[in-house]
Amino acid sequence: MLKVVVIGLGTISDMHIKSYVANEQVELYGLCDMNEQRAKEKAATYDVRQVYTDPEDVFASPDVDAVSICTWNKTHADLAVRALRAGKHVLVEKPLAMTVKEAELVAEAARESGNILQVGYVRRFGTNAQVLKSFIDKDRLGDIYYAKASLLRRVGNPGGWFSDKERSGGGPLIDLGVHIIDSCWYLMGRPKVKAITGHVYDHLGNRSHIKNLSFYKAADYDASANSVEDLANALITFENCSSLMVDVSYSLHTKKDQLSMQLFGTKGGAELEPELLLVMEENDTILNVEPQIDQRTFDFNGAFQKQIDAFAEACLTGGPSPAPAEDGLELMKILEGIYQASEQKKTVQL
Ligand SMILES: NC(=O)c1ccc[n+]([C@@H]2O[C@H](COP(=O)([O-])OP(=O)(O)OC[C@H]3O[C@@H](n4cnc5c(N)ncnc54)[C@H](O)[C@@H]3O)[C@@H](O)[C@H]2O)c1
Repeated sequence: MLKVVVIGLGTISDMHIKSYVANEQVELYGLCDMNEQRAKEKAATYDVRQVYTDPEDVFASPDVDAVSICTWNKTHADLAVRALRAGKHVLVEKPLAMTVKEAELVAEAARESGNILQVGYVRRFGTNAQVLKSFIDKDRLGDIYYAKASLLRRVGNPGGWFSDKERSGGGPLIDLGVHIIDSCWYLMGRPKVKAITGHVYDHLGNRSHIKNLSFYKAADYDASANSVEDLANALITFENCSSLMVDVSYSLHTKKDQLSMQLFGTKGGAELEPELLLVMEENDTILNVEPQIDQRTFDFNGAFQKQIDAFAEACLTGGPSPAPAEDGLELMKILEGIYQASEQKKTVQL
C-alpha cells in the first residue's frame, strides 16, 4: 500500500482525494492545509484520521510515502523540493513552478532523490488524448509540424491567489495555457523550444461585475484585487521547425467560452478538442473520422483517476514518471518565454 497525504485542500483537492480513495493500492493516510478548519472539515468528510496544518510535519513522518501538492503555485517548487529531499514521491499540480529557476531546482531534487516527481498534466490522461496518441504512435499523422490551441473564457478569473501575481506567477497563461500547451507539445513529441513571440494584455480586468454566468473559483474567492493578465497569445517555434500557436483568456469580449486544440501533420490532422476528430486522406478523398469515445465529463472522462493511478503505479514500481520534472521544466521555459517576449516586445530566442 502506498500511503499518501494530500497537501492543499481547496477546490481541486477533491479530485485527488476521491481518486486516491478509489485506488486499491493506496491508503489516503492524511490531509494537510494551513487552514485548520478546512483541513478538519475535509478529514471528516473523507473519514481521514491524520490531519496536518504544516507540510513539514507531513514530510517528517516516516509513515508517509507520497504527497499530492494542491497548493498555490508559489509554493509548488519549495514544497516539492522539501518532499523529495525527505524521501517522498510527489505529484505536484500544474504549473510545476513559477519560474524556470525554480523548476530547475525541482528537476535537480528529483534526479538526486531518485523518487517519482509527476507534474499534474491531467489532460494527458484524457481518453481523447490517449486515443489520439495511439494513432500518432502508429504514424497516422506523419510529422506534426503545426498545432493550434485556444482556451478562451469570457468571465473566468478564479479570484483569490489566482489573480495575485505574487502567488500565482501570472493569469490564464500560467493557469490554463500550461494545460493546452502541454497537451499539444506532448502529442507533437515534446520538441525542444527554440523561439517565442508573445503578447499579454490586461484591458478588461476580472469582470467580476458580470452577472448570471458561473465559473471556477478559488476556495478563498476574493475579487477585490487583480494583478494578472486577462489575455495571452503566442507563437512558439521548436528546434525541429514545428510551431504552436496559442491563446488563452480569463476575460475577453468573445461570444462564448471556447476550447480547441488542433494538430496538423504531413500524413493527417486531428482535433483533440472540442471533439476528437481525425482528418485523413485515402483514395484521393479527405476523410473526417470520428473515433467513438465517451463524451467529455467534468473530470475529463476519468482523467484524474487515470492520473492518480499512473502516479501510484510509478511510485510502487519505481517509475518512470508519466510527466517528469524535465517536462515541467520545458513548459516553464515556454511560459516564462511568453511573458518575457511580451515584456521585451520582441521574439525571445531560447
Ligand atoms: N489540474 C487541473 O485541472 C487544475 C484545476 C484547478 C486547479 N489546479 C491547480 O491546483 C492548485 C490548487 O488550486 P485550487 O483551485 O484548489 O486552489 P484553492 O485556493 O481552492 O486551494 C488551495 C489550498 O491550498 C492551501 N494552501 C496554500 N498554501 C499552503 C501551504 N503552504 N501549506 C498548506 N496549505 C496551503 C490553501 O489554504 C487552500 O486551501 C493550483 O496549483 C492550481 O493551478 C489544477
